[in-house]
Amino acid sequence: MKRIAVFASGTGSNFEAIHDSILKGNLDAEIVLLVVDQPKAAVIEKAKRRQVETLVLSPKEFPSKKDYETAILQRLQELKVEEIVLAGYMRLITDVLLTPYQNHIVNIHPSLLPDFKGKDAIGQAVAAGAKKMGVSIHYVDSGMDTGTIISQESFDVEKGMTLEEIEHRIHAIEHVLYSNTLKKLWEGTK
Ligand code: GAR
Repeated sequence: MKRIAVFASGTGSNFEAIHDSILKGNLDAEIVLLVVDQPKAAVIEKAKRRQVETLVLSPKEFPSKKDYETAILQRLQELKVEEIVLAGYMRLITDVLLTPYQNHIVNIHPSLLPDFKGKDAIGQAVAAGAKKMGVSIHYVDSGMDTGTIISQESFDVEKGMTLEEIEHRIHAIEHVLYSNTLKKLWEGTK
C-alpha cells in the first residue's frame, strides 16, 4: 500500500475522489497527509470530515519558499510519504521537494497539455475557441505544467456548450482519470 500525500489549494473535489477510490478498494493507498497552502480552503473541512491529517501552511509566513517547502518535507519524511499527488495545488514546486521525490510527484491539469498551461486553463481554452478539451496528468518538474505527460482524456466541445457544462465535464473526467492513472502508475502497468 502506497503512503501518499495530497497537496491542494481549493475546493478539494479531486482529493475527495481519490479518497473515495481508496475507501472503495480501487486504489491501494493511504492518504497520510493533506498539505494545504490556503488557510481558508474548503478542502480543509473535507479532510477533517474524512479524518485525514492536514498540514496548513501559509508560504508568506516563512522567510523563503525554501523554508516553506522544508517544513513540508519534514512532515512528509516523518510520515514516510512515498508519493505526492497534486490536486488543485496552485504553486510551483522547487528542488527542496523535487529532489527527494524525483518522479514521485504527479499533477492533474484541466487542459490537453501542452496547451493552456497555468491558471484558468478552462477559461483560456474557451477564449481560444478550442474544439477539443480535456484533462492531463503529468509528472511534476520545476516548470508550470511542463512535466512528462502520463495520461490524457479528451472530449469534443459541442456547439452551444456553456462554460458550466464544460467545467462539469472536465471535473467528471478528472475524478475518474486521476485514480485510474495512479492505480496503473503504482502497479507499474503505466
Ligand atoms: C482541478 O480542475 C485541477 O485540474 C486544477 O484545479 C482544479 C482543482 O479542483 N488544477 C490546475 O489548474 C493546476 N494547474 P478541486 O480543488 O475541486 O480538486
